[in-house]
Amino acid sequence: MAISTEPYKGTRDFYPKDMQLRNWMFGKLSSAARSFGYLEYGGPMIESFELYAAKSGEELVNQQLYHFVDRGDRKVAVRPEMTPTMARLVAARIHELPRPIRLFSIPNLWRYERPQKGRLREHWQLNVDVLGGDALLAETELLTLAVELMRSFGGGERIQVRVNHRKLMDSFFKDTLGLTAEQALKVVKAIDAKDKVDEAKFVGWLSEAGVREDQVATLKRFFGSSLDSIAKEMPCEGANHLLELFKGLSESGVADQVAFDPTIMRGLDYYTGTVFEIYDTSPENRRAMFGGGRYDNLVGMFGGKESLSGVGFGMGDVSLQNFLETHNLVPKFEGEIDVFVSLPKAELRGLSEKVARDLRAGGLNVMTPLQVSGFGAQLKIANKHEAKVAVLFGDSELEKGELILKVLTTGEQLQVKTADTVKTVMGILGSKNS
Ligand code: HAM
Repeated sequence: MAISTEPYKGTRDFYPKDMQLRNWMFGKLSSAARSFGYLEYGGPMIESFELYAAKSGEELVNQQLYHFVDRGDRKVAVRPEMTPTMARLVAARIHELPRPIRLFSIPNLWRYERPQKGRLREHWQLNVDVLGGDALLAETELLTLAVELMRSFGGGERIQVRVNHRKLMDSFFKDTLGLTAEQALKVVKAIDAKDKVDEAKFVGWLSEAGVREDQVATLKRFFGSSLDSIAKEMPCEGANHLLELFKGLSESGVADQVAFDPTIMRGLDYYTGTVFEIYDTSPENRRAMFGGGRYDNLVGMFGGKESLSGVGFGMGDVSLQNFLETHNLVPKFEGEIDVFVSLPKAELRGLSEKVARDLRAGGLNVMTPLQVSGFGAQLKIANKHEAKVAVLFGDSELEKGELILKVLTTGEQLQVKTADTVKTVMGILGSKNS
């Protein structure tokens, strides 16, 4: 049986046009992170299984992890997220890295999920994390960066960052609702998955967790309350922290894009403080585009004495691309070939090569046809490859030490001295780009 040309379920092939879009997106993501002083890091795609088992949470580990035993009997897993790798890197050099430690990376991650809109088995994820520094200032910076990043794509007005605090929720579950820790955990999971099911199912989960009807009513009232009223009625560390955070976000000029949302929970177990998700305001993309929060003890799981608190987020390329396409924010990309240097006769190969070499030395992307053929056939190849300028050789021009430049985007044609080729082509391309 013939082998299928389809990629593995839930993964994508990236043809050159797809790579152009991906490189453009990643370039903008990296620039946004660098502009706030974050430095890029990387790590292996495979880690020990325990790295995830320790902190990543039941759903990720039991249902979504790709794992196997290697030939040396080690239990290993393909990374489903980057945060544990980042924590390992930081823990290994905790005394050397200058603080605050600001890091970013765009790894590919693997999760065994049912492929659907916005969810695949392999995705790329921008991870931005800051460890150390004052918690409020770090969180303000990170959320500002998230908004600025979306602004850099022209989509800043179309997103909303929804913020909550795990400690506020802990106080509410324990002190107001009177839930046990076990019940609270079930309620957290139910709230986290709330958007994916209808109201009846959600209420069903709550009653399975032993939450009474009057408690459900209190929970619903809480969901509809403003942060100010919650802070007044149940003053606690979490509520006060969020009030301060909103003040900072207002000073940073991003308050319009941020809102308090007590239904934001985050599925991962390691978050201990502020948690947030970023949504497209258009109902077409209902899934969160980014998610993140504060984790206090991740670095500590590697046995060192020092605990170093951090905050970060992950943003997937699939949801970002959906967002950009929904709002028409993807530009039309030009072809990547600057110049096509033709080869009409075998005897001209030396000259054709020299012209190509000089153009490459000038920093241009130059292609040659790899076959001798007539004028028309050469131009067809150049056009198919979306080259911008073609270098053509005509007998009468060659006698005068000249060649022909054809601007393929406009059809314009000019003769130039062979020695002036690079300068003239640069001029043509420069005027097109400016
Ligand atoms: P997460 O919420 O699991 O967080 O993922 C973050 C983002 O990655 C999601 O909002 C979504 O855009 C994207 N994403 C996740 N799974 C998939 C998938 N199967 N297909 C497509 N996109 C996906 C984390 O992973 C945390 N480690 C983020 C973090 C960094 N927290 C602190 N620092």
